[in-house]
Formats: sequence, C-alpha cells, structure tokens
Amino acid sequence: MLKIAPSILSADFANLERDIRRVSSADWLHVDVMDGYFVPNITIGVPVVKSIRQCTDMFLDVHLMVTKPARFIEDFAQAGADLLNVHLEADDPRGISQALRLMDQCKVKKAVALRPITSPNAVLPYLEQLDMVLVMTVEPGFGGQALMEHQLETIRQVRALIERYNPACRLEVDGGVNTTTLRRVVEAGADTLVAGSAVYKAADPAAAIAALREV
Ligand code: DX5
Ligand code: ZN
Repeated sequence: MLKIAPSILSADFANLERDIRRVSSADWLHVDVMDGYFVPNITIGVPVVKSIRQCTDMFLDVHLMVTKPARFIEDFAQAGADLLNVHLEADDPRGISQALRLMDQCKVKKAVALRPITSPNAVLPYLEQLDMVLVMTVEPGFGGQALMEHQLETIRQVRALIERYNPACRLEVDGGVNTTTLRRVVEAGADTLVAGSAVYKAADPAAAIAALREV
C-alpha cells in the first residue's frame, strides 16, 4: 500500500495545527528536523514534535538531519515520534548502530536515510532490522527543489536490496515528489512518498493529496 507523507516543512509554522488538519487525509506526517550542521538549515526540534503530538493522532515520521543522532533518539521518542530516521552520513557505524538500538529500546520504528551521494550498499549492515529506508532525491536541507533524476537508479538498487534481504521494509522517497514525478518514483520501487511543496503550496492541500493518489 502506497503511503503519502506530507512534509510540514512547507506548512505555515504560525498556523501549524491548522496546516496539520489540512492534511489529515494523508497516511503519515513527515517532520523534518535539521540542526544547521548536518545540513545548512535549522528547522524543528523536540518541543515542536511534542506539540504536534498533542494536536494529531497521525503517524509521525521524523526525519533527523542531525549530526550524531543517537544523542536525541530518546528525546524524540518521548516527544511522540512513531518512526525515527537517521542519516547514514551523520555518524560512524557505531553511532548509527547505537541510534538504532535506542530506537528499539524506545519502541519506535527504525529507518535510515541516504543522501544522494551515498551508495545504496551502505544500508546493507542495517537492512535486516529496518522498518524503512529513505532515499533522498534532493540534497537535504530545503523544500521546493527539483527531483534528481539520477536518483531513480538508487531507488531501483535499494528496492532490489530490500526484496532480497527484508521485503517488509518500506522504501520512502523524499524531495521533489509531485504529480509529474510520482509515477517514475513509484515505478522505480518507492512505496512511501514525502511531499512538501506539492501539498502545501497547493491552494487545497487535501485536493493535492488526492491528486497524488490519483496518479
Ligand atoms: C528536505 C526535506 C524534505 C522536504 C521535501 O531536506 O527532507 O522532506 O520537505 O520538500 P519537497 O517535497 O518540496 O521537495
Ligand atoms: Zn524529509
């Protein structure tokens, strides 16, 4: 089953509760956490995730674009995240394994993310224990960028690894997904789609979600 996960990065932060309600027809809510160091932007932190948890029952898919993310796993889990997603480039293998162990302890779903430059094979040491892999189709940091077409090949390769080692694992794609690019992304093997500007820059976010499903 395809899941659509609107990214609140493109929402109006002064009206976050309203903008979350506007996408309640979606499957998940994608929350972009950035530390200004792993990526050149600062966005949402633990207190905001806690407030979001208080105003929605939606599944919170929390994308941590943060250096050494193990430091924050317990905090985000306690704030109400349902899934935590750490970048493979954000720490050494020990740090990534520690972050995944903490996710287990906190009983949240576990995901790892790949920047466009990272080889699909980098997921292999972790794949069997993961609930999801995220393939970035833009350089992480900002919404509203165009999908990098060469990342379709990365999606295909990650899909092949998932089929081989952990078929229950989801494959999420993040960056530049809209009604024009969605078909190619799904054909390449994605089953979970983040959409920021495609949903929130539309006049009617609910209609935009329906249009994505239509494709
Ligand atoms: C970018 C974020 C994305 C972003 C996607 O670093 O991870 O989730 O919000 O925005 P769009 O869909 O506009 O590319
Ligand atoms: Zn994201």
